[in-house]
Amino acid sequence: MISAAEGSPNGNSCCQPNGRMDDYAQQAFVDDNIAISPNAPEEVPTLLKRIALHSEAYLTENDENERTKILDAARSLVYALETPREAIIRHCWSQSTLYAALETGVDLGLFTALSQNDKPKTSGQLAAATGADPTMLARILKHLAAMGVITETGPDEYRRTGFSMSMMCNRYSDSYPCMTGCITDGVLALPAQLKKMGYRNPSDGKDCAFQRGFSTPLHFFDFLTENPIHAVQFNNHMSVYHQGRPSWMDVGFYPVLSLVAEANISDHDALLVDMGGSLGHDLSEFRRKWPQVSGRLILQDLPKVVEQARSMNLDPAIELMTHDFFTEQPIKGARAYYMHSVLHDWTDDDCRRILANVIPAMKRGHSKLLLNENVIPSTNAYWETTSLDIIMMADFASTERTEKQWRALVESAGLKITKIWTVRRGVESLIECELA
Ligand SMILES: C[S@@+](CC[C@H](N)C(=O)[O-])C[C@H]1O[C@@H](n2cnc3c(N)ncnc32)[C@H](O)[C@@H]1O
Repeated sequence: MISAAEGSPNGNSCCQPNGRMDDYAQQAFVDDNIAISPNAPEEVPTLLKRIALHSEAYLTENDENERTKILDAARSLVYALETPREAIIRHCWSQSTLYAALETGVDLGLFTALSQNDKPKTSGQLAAATGADPTMLARILKHLAAMGVITETGPDEYRRTGFSMSMMCNRYSDSYPCMTGCITDGVLALPAQLKKMGYRNPSDGKDCAFQRGFSTPLHFFDFLTENPIHAVQFNNHMSVYHQGRPSWMDVGFYPVLSLVAEANISDHDALLVDMGGSLGHDLSEFRRKWPQVSGRLILQDLPKVVEQARSMNLDPAIELMTHDFFTEQPIKGARAYYMHSVLHDWTDDDCRRILANVIPAMKRGHSKLLLNENVIPSTNAYWETTSLDIIMMADFASTERTEKQWRALVESAGLKITKIWTVRRGVESLIECELA
């Protein structure tokens, strides 16, 4: 909020009671030239050089890190070249409309119809294949092409892309109805909720923007239990949102083999207990990447989620178990209790309750707690992490945490952090903890 005196060039009050500047003050501050001039033209040469530099390395070595550096620089280039007016229109027009077009496309089966083969298809053919009105569909297709989601090959004619092909798979395409069904209305209600709460940091997962946006008294996870279709979509979204990111299970990230070798784990010992493990994607990845490793792999989640996981044809080495992590952990003395993107859903007090239920099961000198979470860096945080933080604020009254916040939380629960492994600006870090 700009205070009235701050908002004036000469320190005099220029604001109306709601914090908006009056027309005269606005003119003194912002003439149209600012709104129609590039945001940071002075940064353009450096950014172009950075893109060229990383492109060379990417093209010669096909290095994934170089690819992400090009993407970061390309985004910064867009922000630097874009004018404020263009940014406003991008935020206000393109984001919600692209979303609406995508969700409509998913619901219609448009992407499946388009992506069956590489042949371009007319809007009329796609309308016939999906049963949609041809005039309406032509407009949706034009916008999807204008936004770079599908390729326009001629007037009213389109070809599939890698994106449209990914949309043929429910695990990916469910992200869109999932957001509409149980996330976005909470985010959209955030400004009004923050205003009502006097702009305090939300701290009650049963009284935050989520309840306002979805007109429900329920906590997010109780809402999912009551809405099984959204629950399935949410679990599918969980199974894909981190695909392709570096993973702690990759060689060279976390010492997976010493986790096993140092403790002499046999086939009867519990190696990994994945608490709130959703559909078992992490344990499946572990099994795929470390098939030779002995020890039990146990997937725990709420009953409905475990039910969905049972239908997924998981590797038979993965044991499924219903467990509410607000109750005592039944698997005692496991080598590692693992939680991926779980504690970020909960306030510090709730996290301490969850941890208090694991601690009695941990064996001193043997058991580790592995928290696979974002660790927000003090500068240059990644936009995926900050987006998720605002979702956490809106829908869970919880937070993505900095290293300092993780240390304070873990120590207050009676544990200690032994080491944090982290890559790519804190995304997908692994926080290893032991009994204090
Ligand atoms: C944000 S998701 C993370 C899922 C998975 N670990 C991942 O990273 O993809 C949180 C998970 O916690 C589960 N969960 C929520 N409340 C729970 C509870 N009381 N006991 C056990 N699991 C719970 C949800 O069903 C969901 O699968």
